Amino acid sequence: MDAERSNTDPIRLAVIIGSTREGRIGPAVARWFATHAQQHGAFELDVVDLLEVPLPHRIGGPSTPELEAWAARIDRADAFAVVTPEYNRGYPGALKHAIDLVVDEWQAKPVGFVTYGGVGRGLRAAEQLRQVFAELHVVALRDAVSLNRFGGEVDEAGWVCDRTGAPQAAKTLLARLEWWAAALRAARRETGYSL
Ligand SMILES: Cc1cc2nc3c(=O)[nH]c(=O)nc-3n(C[C@H](O)[C@H](O)[C@H](O)COP(=O)(O)O)c2cc1C
Repeated sequence: MDAERSNTDPIRLAVIIGSTREGRIGPAVARWFATHAQQHGAFELDVVDLLEVPLPHRIGGPSTPELEAWAARIDRADAFAVVTPEYNRGYPGALKHAIDLVVDEWQAKPVGFVTYGGVGRGLRAAEQLRQVFAELHVVALRDAVSLNRFGGEVDEAGWVCDRTGAPQAAKTLLARLEWWAAALRAARRETGYSL
């Protein structure tokens, strides 16, 4: 996949919606972030709603068309933005399952976090995801967007209020994602990624 890409191609950014809960606000938060990503201009977006993606229930079973499609979708991306709530000081189980289904396709790419919750702002979900992605050789970016959905930063429908620091945080995260995605894509093309 990387060998076919030029360093000047748009960066393929997969925006992964981590919540599948009935009544969730995840898709609206992801739409807000995707709007900023489009305005940034460097990205070709793939918004991945885990509720809509058919995935095998079991890890390690025989390959299926669903698993192959998931692996191809992750492989195609140059960078990831994970939009996730905090549930019980962690992140949703559906997100963990989606992460664990594939391995090599994640490697040597950056991930940024857009998290939300109550007073925790999803920060504990982000910290746990940093550990998980380290195991998969994914570079988790320092800069992030973190939102308190009950403090006026997010409306009832899940749209983020632009009178807060959130737009600037999104811009910073997107700039970091662009830098890391371009650097790592060039490195993967040049030397591959193996030990
Ligand atoms: C099962 C559950 C557990 C939650 N636990 C936390 C928590 O530990 N910390 C926090 O800040 N918010 C917590 N919340 C609040 C959620 O982060 C918030 O409602 C968020 O909007 C949920 O994301 P969703 O609407 O996309 O499902 C919890 C919500 C649910 C449903």
